Amino acid sequence: MADIGIDLNRFILEEERKHPNATGSLTQALMSIEAASKIIASQVRKAGLAGILGKAGKTNVQGEEVQKLDELSNEILIDMLSDSGEFYALASEELDEPIYPEKGKNAKYVIAFDPLDGSSNIDVNVSIGTIFSIHRRIGDGVENFLQEGYKQVAAGYIIYGSSTMFVFSTGNGVNGFTLDPSVGMFLLSHPDMKLPEKGKIYSINEANEKKWIDENLKKFIDALKDEGYTSRYIGSMVADVHRTLIKGGIFGYPADKKNVNGKLRLLYEASPMSFLITQAGGKATTGKEDILNIKPHEIHQRVPVFLGSKKEIDQLLSFIGS
Ligand code: AHG
Ligand code: MN
Ligand code: MN
Repeated sequence: MADIGIDLNRFILEEERKHPNATGSLTQALMSIEAASKIIASQVRKAGLAGILGKAGKTNVQGEEVQKLDELSNEILIDMLSDSGEFYALASEELDEPIYPEKGKNAKYVIAFDPLDGSSNIDVNVSIGTIFSIHRRIGDGVENFLQEGYKQVAAGYIIYGSSTMFVFSTGNGVNGFTLDPSVGMFLLSHPDMKLPEKGKIYSINEANEKKWIDENLKKFIDALKDEGYTSRYIGSMVADVHRTLIKGGIFGYPADKKNVNGKLRLLYEASPMSFLITQAGGKATTGKEDILNIKPHEIHQRVPVFLGSKKEIDQLLSFIGS
């Protein structure tokens, strides 16, 4: 187990050394995400100032256009990940089609990302994040992104909260790093993260209760209430999953009459978060199947999501399981 405080770059390099055949590609790939996340974090920290900095029309003091944070995050990731040369293809929640960077023609990996998760929380200064999912390249086109979640080589998120954290897994557990803004480094603060077997919190948008397609879901939530559970729902998946990873319990976004397949996107949200939760000893399901076993049929596919501690997921399945 690595020492508390080791920085993310060294941690990734040391992980690579454990695999004698590693070429360093995944290391470079992860480092390009880390670099992009630091730039996004610095922009997020100025979010409330965008209006002031862009007061003269829509341009800032450098004469650049002041952009919305989700567009900006998307562009930063596309530019920096393309430029790394480590990705054959990029798929973003914000783009209709994947991008195939010129420099990545011979690259081994493809990446899917949600550049800014929780965008409704930007204007109210509540935690938001970036989510990513890396698979091995298996072909020339979209099939690269239509691989099951259990085949992810790495997945993670960056949470821009009261501190900025980088949480990721390459399939050997989950580790969390906190950005020390004074030195600009992510330092290991949460080694080998594990969910408690059981938590005390449920996290679901209960305003949708009357629209939930499966009425047994309400019975399950009522059972949790009877057991003394409390409720927390931030509305940024990154933040709700981060809390679940640390404190356990259950997070869900079910199918409802408006979102018949749920709201969350398989490639950019459900699959990477399920990989992390599973790596940390929890479980992730649509209610019908394990999220990591789903073979996507299109890149913007949505799925119902329930993830969290074993006890709560098993209990959920005893209510709604088919
Ligand atoms: P995004 O900001 O990337 O579009 O994602 C928003 C998602 C997710 O972060 C969150 O769990 C969910 O939307 C919240 O939805 P409701 O407002 O419908 O509860
Ligand atoms: Mn999102
Ligand atoms: Mn988003």
